[in-house]
Formats: sequence, C-alpha cells, structure tokens
Amino acid sequence: MTIGIIGAGAIGAAIARLLSQQGFKLSIANSRGPESLASLITELGPNARAVTVQQASKAELVFLAVNWSKLPQAVKELGPWDGRIVVDTNNPIEAPLFKPFDLAGKVSSQVVAEMLPGALVVKAFNHLSPALLANPAAVGGKRVLFFSGEHHSAKQKVATLIEKLGFFGIDLGTLEQGRLAQFPGGPLPALNLVKHH
Ligand SMILES: NC(=O)c1ccc[n+]([C@@H]2O[C@H](COP(=O)([O-])OP(=O)(O)OC[C@H]3O[C@@H](n4cnc5c(N)ncnc54)[C@H](OP(=O)(O)O)[C@@H]3O)[C@@H](O)[C@H]2O)c1
Repeated sequence: MTIGIIGAGAIGAAIARLLSQQGFKLSIANSRGPESLASLITELGPNARAVTVQQASKAELVFLAVNWSKLPQAVKELGPWDGRIVVDTNNPIEAPLFKPFDLAGKVSSQVVAEMLPGALVVKAFNHLSPALLANPAAVGGKRVLFFSGEHHSAKQKVATLIEKLGFFGIDLGTLEQGRLAQFPGGPLPALNLVKHH
C-alpha cells in the first residue's frame, strides 16, 4: 500500500517519522513544495520522499494533516479520490487563538469528508500531541489510538497500520460516533490512555 502525507508540520512529520522507523515507504508534501522539505527528508532517510501535494494525494492511503482553516485550499484541486483512503488527523481549532471553529453541530470528520468526495475517510491520529504520537510504546503497554469511519475495509487497513506502528487501536464506530475523540469537545482527547499487556 502506498502512503502519502499532506502536511509536514508537527503532526505530518510525527507520522512520517513513525512510518519511516517501521520501514514503510512514504511520500510527504507541504504548501511550499518538495525543496522546502529537504532537511526533513534527510532526517527521515531513504523510506521518505518529498513530493507535491498532488502527488501525495495519489497514494492509496493519504494522511491529511493541515491547519483547519487551510484545509479547503489544500484539497481544492485534489481528487477524484476514487475510493482511496484519507486519514483525517485534523481538529477544528488553531493557534494562536485556540477558539474552536463553528461547525454548526457537525462532527469535524464529516466536514472534512464533504471536502473529499469519493474518499474513504477514517478519523485517526488527531487526539495525541506530537510528542505522545512519537512514542507508541508506553511504559508497560501500548498507547491507545481511537479511530472511526463509515467504511469497514478502510478502517481495517488503518487499524492494521495503527497496530504495526505500535499503538493499540480502538474503533469508536461511525464518524458521528468518533465525536467522542474530537478535539475540542469529546471526552477522550484529554486522556492519554495506555493498554496494558
Ligand atoms: N499539533 C498538535 O498537537 C496536533 C495534535 C493532533 C492533531 N492536530 C491537527 O493536525 C493538523 C496539523 O497540525 P500541525 O500541528 O501539524 O500544524 P503545523 O505544524 O502548523 O503544520 C501544518 C502543515 O500544513 C501544511 N499546509 C498548510 N496549508 C497547506 C496547503 N494549502 N497545502 C498543503 N499543505 C499545507 C503546512 O505546510 P507549509 O509549512 O509549507 O505551509 C504544514 O506542513 C491540524 O488540523 C491540527 O488540528 C494537531
């Protein structure tokens, strides 16, 4: 399975490090173009390659890790998604104000899914800080990662990846049920849960 990452900031880079450390090949993109990612690619090593956003979006599984207000612009020219998987890592809140965006009651992953017609959206990797995400192995167990989505086969693939990266994945159900792990608002993101052996 080919893996692309759109967004190479705190979360995109943390996911790239995890993938590359576990031997997965990945392509990663930001808004400023592949050249601007030279030092990250040097750090990540031969499993990683810097590409354009368009190129990253063609992978079979695409992580989307972009600031909430910039998502529409980032995905505007992408697609058709043709049943490819998009992992929505995004939260509807942003520095420096940290004022939640008004989603008119919708769950944020549903708002993202509406921007990506034809994509199989799985919400995951959104509720841990980059530092915790970097360490799936917690003392005595595995760090818990929640995921949700409408498509069983897509969730299975993301669940397998979550496990291979060293986390303990928990399927919350549909995107609406994933609201429990939405940040801000859901009760789960405040917790740093570890599944003990
Ligand atoms: N930081 C956290 O603690 C945390 C935790 C969980 C989830 N999240 C979520 O993860 C997402 C990313 O957060 P972050 O902390 O990684 O943000 P960040 O460090 O500010 O990085 C954002 C990335 O998005 C890229 N980007 C912006 N506009 C783009 C566009 N039009 N096309 C392509 N790429 C674009 C930026 O590229 P350039 O630098 O080239 O502009 C940058 O690589 C957010 O939705 C956030 O809510 C964050």
